[in-house]
Amino acid sequence: MIRFENVSKWYPGGVADAVDNLSLFINEGEICVLVGSSGCGKTTTMKMINKLIEPSSGTIYLDGQNIETLDTLTLRLNIGYIIQEIGLFPHMTVAENVATIPVELGWKPLRIKARVEELLDLVDLDPRLFGRKKPRELNASQKLRVGIARALAANPMIMLMDEPFGALDPVARTRMQDEFLTIHQKIHKTIVLVTHDIDEAIRMGDRIAVMRNGRVLQFDTPREILSHPADPFVSELIGDRKALKLMNLISCAQLMHDVSEFRQTWNRDFKAGGTLPGASTIGMQATAQDALAEMFRTGERFLFVEDDSHQVQGVIELDDLFKSVSQGDDARKQ
Ligand SMILES: Nc1ncnc2c1ncn2[C@@H]1O[C@H](COP(=O)(O)OP(=O)(O)O)[C@@H](O)[C@H]1O
Ligand SMILES: [Mg+2]
Repeated sequence: MIRFENVSKWYPGGVADAVDNLSLFINEGEICVLVGSSGCGKTTTMKMINKLIEPSSGTIYLDGQNIETLDTLTLRLNIGYIIQEIGLFPHMTVAENVATIPVELGWKPLRIKARVEELLDLVDLDPRLFGRKKPRELNASQKLRVGIARALAANPMIMLMDEPFGALDPVARTRMQDEFLTIHQKIHKTIVLVTHDIDEAIRMGDRIAVMRNGRVLQFDTPREILSHPADPFVSELIGDRKALKLMNLISCAQLMHDVSEFRQTWNRDFKAGGTLPGASTIGMQATAQDALAEMFRTGERFLFVEDDSHQVQGVIELDDLFKSVSQGDDARKQ
């Protein structure tokens, strides 16, 4: 989808290249996170995609086409762009902000109105309640929601997001990250997200490019980055509690195994529904970390995994949790 080929950017008078011979391939529909400390070249890399910055050397391809050959305006219409400040137009209503690009494109008023309502619904803002508000009446999360709706208005292929959650307090940030992941499942856009927060990268990314001094040190899935950091700097960035972070990426549905085996091992009385007396249950979507917390709460070395209609689908034992943290090693050896 987006391909960087030996792309560098240097600024006149700069000591080192802001982006240094970067090659990267971003798949269609994935969330690719660029993470690294301030000044490592994340924003520069991102802005070269929508031609806000021109590379000093190298080439960027979009669907196989060199972006230099593409019309800048058309390119930008196909790329939604969200920055930390969001940058809503203060004198315009929420609805007018979201309608910016459709208006520019000359859509008919009815089509614009329908699109604005659809988008506000998507970002969970009631159009009747919020459509007429001005940006100053919104909190940081609501502004971000409007920013996302505005960026999606003309149905772009790609969304570039530069520290989008940076203005939110920690609680709102986690909630918006989760909500954005839910939105992403509905819209299937290719996302390039910039952050300096490794936990955000791990939470949001299908793949993460860890950057330093304009270079990519490692480009891999969160799980692989956590289990096999390719560089001391990557290890340092991940910080401690690596095992817990890894457990956060694994769902109970992935971990559970068959109850019948377990039945034999434990040789205790199951109720008709398949649960042991007093045994606790957890949802399939819960993480390995949630399962660990639940085992600590109950003091049991196992728990049952149930689906949305409370049917037991499997069992997780404490050993499975230990294995889940070392699984990355096994995968690597094969
Ligand atoms: N317009 C500019 N002129 C000179 N140097 C710049 C300019 N923009 C960015 N830089 C430098 O390029 C490097 C990368 O910047 P940037 O991409 O903004 O980093 P990040 O987004 O990772 O914080 C930094 O060292 C920064 O000082
Ligand atoms: Mg930046």
